[in-house]
Amino acid sequence: MTLLITGATGFIGRHLCARLTARRQPVLALMRRPQALEELQATVDRLGGNSHYLDALPGDLNAPDLGLAGSPPSLDAVVHLGARFGWRLPAEAARRTNVSGSLAVARLARRQQCRLVFISGFMLDNQRHLKRLGLNGEDPATIDWQRVYRRAGAYEASKIEAAITVRWQLRNQDWVEVQPATVAGHSRNGDLDPAQPLHALIDNLARGRLAMVPGGPEHWLPLIPVDTLAEIIDHAIQDPAPPRRILGLDPDTPNLKPMLALIAETLGCRSPRLHLPIPLLAHLLRLPALARFANTEPEALHFIQPERFDLSATMPFLERTGIRLPPMPRVLRASAGHYLESHGHAR
Ligand SMILES: NC(=O)c1ccc[n+]([C@@H]2O[C@H](COP(=O)([O-])OP(=O)(O)OC[C@H]3O[C@@H](n4cnc5c(N)ncnc54)[C@H](OP(=O)(O)O)[C@@H]3O)[C@@H](O)[C@H]2O)c1
Repeated sequence: MTLLITGATGFIGRHLCARLTARRQPVLALMRRPQALEELQATVDRLGGNSHYLDALPGDLNAPDLGLAGSPPSLDAVVHLGARFGWRLPAEAARRTNVSGSLAVARLARRQQCRLVFISGFMLDNQRHLKRLGLNGEDPATIDWQRVYRRAGAYEASKIEAAITVRWQLRNQDWVEVQPATVAGHSRNGDLDPAQPLHALIDNLARGRLAMVPGGPEHWLPLIPVDTLAEIIDHAIQDPAPPRRILGLDPDTPNLKPMLALIAETLGCRSPRLHLPIPLLAHLLRLPALARFANTEPEALHFIQPERFDLSATMPFLERTGIRLPPMPRVLRASAGHYLESHGHAR
């Protein structure tokens, strides 16, 4: 089986490559900087993979037809993780990489007649949120995208546009959409990239920048450990009949206040007790000085919400494939412990 992975150098991609190559699955990484292959191979080995099975295919999500020189080798599956991930992105830039890039990847999978495992995000299953953004139908041509970009911010809007457009274009093809929650560190060693949103939350807590809990007692930030997500994606690649959509989300993630308390316990710092309504916080964050001090972007607040998710298609898949969600308190302690270690504190 030959697999092509976009976004292999990213946080999730590195862990996925480690998992796949550890079971001797050859992986081709679509890389806009193929000269970084050696570095990626070293990382994959460090994460327990076998870099002997990892190679690069030069390509760029921003280039027409991915900038592939000549015809790519015959593929059995494509995993699409690559994206421009960040807050306050210019809409055009987010759209180019995340929407046009995704469509180019979908076209490649269609030409190759192979499975596409497409990584979107859990907010695509938050029906109330989608309704608020004005997303009711399935046909992307009927959606007022400008309004969606204005309300959701460019990163989230481009992820939603990409998923809805790819679903529409691949209606009768072999595709699986994995919808991850916010990604937590590795469930045992806590490995967590400093660019990840959960890392920013832990850092804010450690530095005493989180004086109040965003949202009410029902609010939560659903999480999934990176190694469990890699396992889910691995099964989505191999399974003969996976569900169309798989939510990568642990429903036992504690609500935000107890979650912060668990992390604070490991960090040895105080945890906030009082709640601050999200609309008020978003309003306050419009003040640039406060946003800088709080080190929080209003766009990031959308992911903290009270909605619960329908896992009726996902849970039977996890059971059938033997995927177990590790206990979330252990995951949170591991992520916080890794944060301490990487900041020079012994565990
Ligand atoms: N992390 C989360 O909490 C989370 C939650 C839900 C969904 N997701 C989704 O999961 C996917 C991966 O997330 P992540 O956290 O692993 O992201 P990440 O660490 O930011 O990695 C992004 C990856 O995309 C690649 N990329 C960006 N622009 C590219 C381009 N023009 N051409 C080719 N490759 C390009 C980057 O490659 P370079 O090395 O060349 O920069 C990198 O490998 C994304 O689609 C994200 O939206 C993530």
